[in-house]
Amino acid sequence: MSDDPIIKSNVSETFMDAGALYDFMGHAPLEYIECEDVSLVNLGYWKGLNSFAKGHLMLSNLALFHLVCQNAGLSKNDGLVVDIGCGFGDVVINCVKDFHCPSVIGINISQYQIEQSLKKIARHNLQQKIAIKNMSATELQFEDNSIDKMISTEAAFHFDSRVDFFREAYRTLKPGGILSLADMVYNPPRNALEEIILPRLQDGLYIPSANVYSFADYIKKIRDAGFEIINAKNITSHVRPYFRKWAFSHPVNLVINRNIRWIISTIGFLVYPWEYIYLVAKKPDV
Ligand SMILES: C[S@@+](CC[C@H](N)C(=O)[O-])C[C@H]1O[C@@H](n2cnc3c(N)ncnc32)[C@H](O)[C@@H]1O
Repeated sequence: MSDDPIIKSNVSETFMDAGALYDFMGHAPLEYIECEDVSLVNLGYWKGLNSFAKGHLMLSNLALFHLVCQNAGLSKNDGLVVDIGCGFGDVVINCVKDFHCPSVIGINISQYQIEQSLKKIARHNLQQKIAIKNMSATELQFEDNSIDKMISTEAAFHFDSRVDFFREAYRTLKPGGILSLADMVYNPPRNALEEIILPRLQDGLYIPSANVYSFADYIKKIRDAGFEIINAKNITSHVRPYFRKWAFSHPVNLVINRNIRWIISTIGFLVYPWEYIYLVAKKPDV
């Protein structure tokens, strides 16, 4: 892992892809809870939670995983379930342990997270039920009509582009298959300050310009890909203010092991009015 991960790409001058961003974050996720063996890299769903002590980001993360899995209706009767952008493997483990899914594949493009996920899955002795693959959301190496359910937690805003992912999700899901997402929505800037902040966030957090649009446009693009919307909800009020309070309570967690240039570029994350949504879509039955 480089201290100064300067690599040019179309999306970011700093990172070649979002995998390089997470390789750079490496072993310093937002929080690691040793006794639970959980590494946290999402902002959490804080409904009913209002404490920011150590361990409470974990509760909000588990609640977010649970929401996405429950929205997908995961159960022991599912065939293949695929988690897109699987982080440190906590969601795929959740799919098996809490929702009893018999066969789960997590995909990711961060080599560091893939290695950590594989170790964690072995520690939980779940290698028979879970596989992790190095694969991009925008080029899924699955057959047409082969996946029963697809989930993705706080990852699609990175995909280059999110619409290419919708196309791949539609191709690979079986007719009647379900796509359950939690995602960040970056609306276009509304004033001069937001115009300054957004390009820096795009660079430091690897957010393609093609993914900067409103929730209404998000829904339209999923429909345009062929999906039926089952449920779509703006849950910003259960995420943004709470994550920010957590961040101000644990500022060191945001900066530890990061370089100063990256911190300056992404500090606007704490004020930019990004939104947070969940969405459940279905590939129509034939
Ligand atoms: C904010 S993290 C969320 C991780 C995990 N879903 C969670 O909620 O803990 C975003 C994840 O998406 C992955 N990712 C980003 N772009 C990707 C792509 N094109 N294909 C697959 N995974 C990707 C990152 O490597 C990272 O694991």
